[in-house]
Amino acid sequence: MPAVPSITIQEALTDIEQQFWLDEQALKDISRRFQELFHYGLANHGAEMAMIPTFVTGVPDGTETGTYLALDLGGTNLRVCEINLDGKGGFTMKQEKYKVSDALKRGPAKDLFDYMARSVDTFLTDYGTSSSDDELLMGFTFSFPVEQTAIDKGTLIHWTKGFDCPDAPGKDVVKLLQDALDRKHIKVRVNALVNDTVGALLARGYQTSGALLGAIFGTGTNGAYLEDITKVKKLNLPSGGPSHMVINTEWGGMDDERKVLPVTIFDNYVDRKSIRQRNHVFEKMISGMYLGEVARAVLTHLMDHLVLFKGFSSELFNTMYAFDTAYMSAIEADEEPASSPNCATRKVLIETMKVPAEHVSDEDVETVRKVCRIVGTRAARLSAVAVAAVLDHTGNAQSKSTDDQGANVGVDGSVIEFYPHFEERLREALRILLGEQGEKRVKIGLAKDGSGVGAALGALQAFKQEQSGHR
Ligand code: GLC
Repeated sequence: MPAVPSITIQEALTDIEQQFWLDEQALKDISRRFQELFHYGLANHGAEMAMIPTFVTGVPDGTETGTYLALDLGGTNLRVCEINLDGKGGFTMKQEKYKVSDALKRGPAKDLFDYMARSVDTFLTDYGTSSSDDELLMGFTFSFPVEQTAIDKGTLIHWTKGFDCPDAPGKDVVKLLQDALDRKHIKVRVNALVNDTVGALLARGYQTSGALLGAIFGTGTNGAYLEDITKVKKLNLPSGGPSHMVINTEWGGMDDERKVLPVTIFDNYVDRKSIRQRNHVFEKMISGMYLGEVARAVLTHLMDHLVLFKGFSSELFNTMYAFDTAYMSAIEADEEPASSPNCATRKVLIETMKVPAEHVSDEDVETVRKVCRIVGTRAARLSAVAVAAVLDHTGNAQSKSTDDQGANVGVDGSVIEFYPHFEERLREALRILLGEQGEKRVKIGLAKDGSGVGAALGALQAFKQEQSGHR
């Protein structure tokens, strides 16, 4: 006798919706927790939301000039760029992407850093413009948690986003890179270590004459902002130095203790199977590396309750990380009726995920759309909390004067750039957190190529700081 579902699809979806929905109270509670953890991380080393001082003490204003190299490792690709800043907020850039294999991501650190040096060498041979006598300055965008001790020094705390070279944590990543370059006699000096969020902040500052926050919503999520140096208690800096410093929050690790994070059984499933359990849980609820996997967990749960695809799955739906976040984007962008031959959702299910067509009803198509919407909406609302919390913390949540310039936020990453309705949903939650007026002041702009231009600006800033003696 065929098994009979014990719940209806409507009941199952209502339950999922309730588990994933963040109401006003939840948003406010998470925002408050952010404030507590900002203070804790600024005063203590080793916090889970690490609040890393970056030793970058200024944000560009668009007048900067010069040619710099950038090396960007952090998400899906490795990139080498040469950037020419024109001093008017504009730039030209040559770049090349190089694939990082899983073997390199999880093998000995030396192999990964040698590969990066080789890529720089290939890039300079193919595209370099400087004469071989010049020493080129390079900013290194390394988008992982690093305990920085200078603008050009920092030890890896731990890996995130699926990287796991076991001998790298605890080592200075600039030194690893410089040694690899030196071994190949490449005349490049790595003089700045820049997180991608710092890159986004610097790039947005350069393009719009100042910015408050740089945020990444891509493979991972994180934010960096300009902090009053007296609040960075854990550094014990003598007075008389610079007044501000960029802080890399590592907000992906916000509330890993789970005091307020509304973690569902689906998040627990994703976390349990991830490389670092109970770590960067907030990131696992938001970012592109994980959203598809959270949705897959929900969808297979519905299959197991016999309310989706008549209880059948497919080999791909049974495979971890096979339901890519990019498929969610395609599904959320799909406005065709479920019965239409052009329905993108149906195509993803049948052609990409290989669910046999006879198991996919129109109602199933609607269900999958709804699940993507539920998971994607929670991600956008949680992202809004992070943005609002930084604005609150820095006293920028409300207008301070009559000639208010608004709150300038530079963003980058595949989720904010390509995931349909992400910004609109984020803004809806910002309205709840900051009020109608507060939300209107927030200017969110793409810091496109932040990791490239930002690293170049980091190299320039480091050079300026070297010259002025404030390193
Ligand atoms: C992860 C990394 C962080 C980075 C973010 C976005 O959270 O730990 O350093 O900024 O991903 O790429």
